Amino acid sequence: MDGIRSVGFLTPEEVEQALRAATAAPSLCNSQPWWFRCTPTAIELHADARRTVPVADPEHRELALGCGAALLNLRLAIRAVGVHPDVRLLPEHGRPDLLAAVRPAARRPVTPSDRELAEAIHRRHTNRRPFTAAAVPDPLRARLRQAAEAERAWLAVLDRTHYGRLQALAREAHQAQLEDPEFVAEWRHWTGRDDHALDGVPARASGPRPEPQDEWVLRDYSGGTASPRVPGKDFEPEPLICVLGSFQDTPLAQLQAGVAMQHVLLTATASGLASSFLSQVIEVPRTRRELRSLIGGGLWPQTVLRIGYGSPVPPTPRRPLSDVLTPDAS
Ligand SMILES: Cc1cc2nc3c(=O)[nH]c(=O)nc-3n(C[C@H](O)[C@H](O)[C@H](O)COP(=O)(O)O)c2cc1C
Repeated sequence: MDGIRSVGFLTPEEVEQALRAATAAPSLCNSQPWWFRCTPTAIELHADARRTVPVADPEHRELALGCGAALLNLRLAIRAVGVHPDVRLLPEHGRPDLLAAVRPAARRPVTPSDRELAEAIHRRHTNRRPFTAAAVPDPLRARLRQAAEAERAWLAVLDRTHYGRLQALAREAHQAQLEDPEFVAEWRHWTGRDDHALDGVPARASGPRPEPQDEWVLRDYSGGTASPRVPGKDFEPEPLICVLGSFQDTPLAQLQAGVAMQHVLLTATASGLASSFLSQVIEVPRTRRELRSLIGGGLWPQTVLRIGYGSPVPPTPRRPLSDVLTPDAS
């Protein structure tokens, strides 16, 4: 893209690559609630207040998670070209929408782990389709937990004893949202998009409409255009469900939780695993409180992930960089 200049130790091409990596992050309803500004020394990440999903996410908690994911991608893309990203979170008091300033500050060697995670950025996609019944082995579960811990968050891997309660909570939350006409209108607005849309969830990214026993695993993302169920292709009988939790529930903790969420998702992708989200349980305050006590009461649940072995799914669209990059006026 024209007009991108070098930032710190990054060439213009590396800046562009880093911004493309950032915008590949997941976001609630693919709302892409971010914009960037490049100064000669830093790439700034800003929350875009015009791109909120106000009924599902009135406090902008999920917006912070998506922006945290974009921040991890930015960090990794910079590390992958052998540069150290010096990251300041919420760097200016009184400017809460300026979420982070990332200074490509010095040269550093690329580690195999940086490279592996950076390579997973454009391969990670939300996969709402059935996964196979194969269990995720314990060493991989441990790797996912370590990915969250590396970012000062915690991943509670639920076991079979939690499933009944989680199922009931997911159903209750889904039902509560369906009974809210404003939620349903917002949902319809963002989902079931045609192939030309640059944001929102395309119809082709939806899974098959779930049977009643699977409804808790997948809330209907189809906007009325679910793909037909394939006989014999049922949802996995015992999905691997993980709750990513933070120790606090402040905007800063939510941003950091987004970084941790993306570290878990990229680790899953790099390990050959697919993933999707079950956010309804966290979006409804009552079920979020219940989920908090289900995982022990000490952590704030920030996102619920379903992880397993899936078949490939297509990418979702992103807005062009010209839409998300604001010129530096200084
Ligand atoms: C905080 C957050 C919550 C999300 N919640 C859901 C959800 O409840 N159900 C779902 O199917 N996808 C959910 N998603 C996935 C987004 O719809 C997805 O990231 C977006 O459509 C972009 O697609 P991609 O992840 O394939 O790049 C969520 C993503 C984020 C970051």
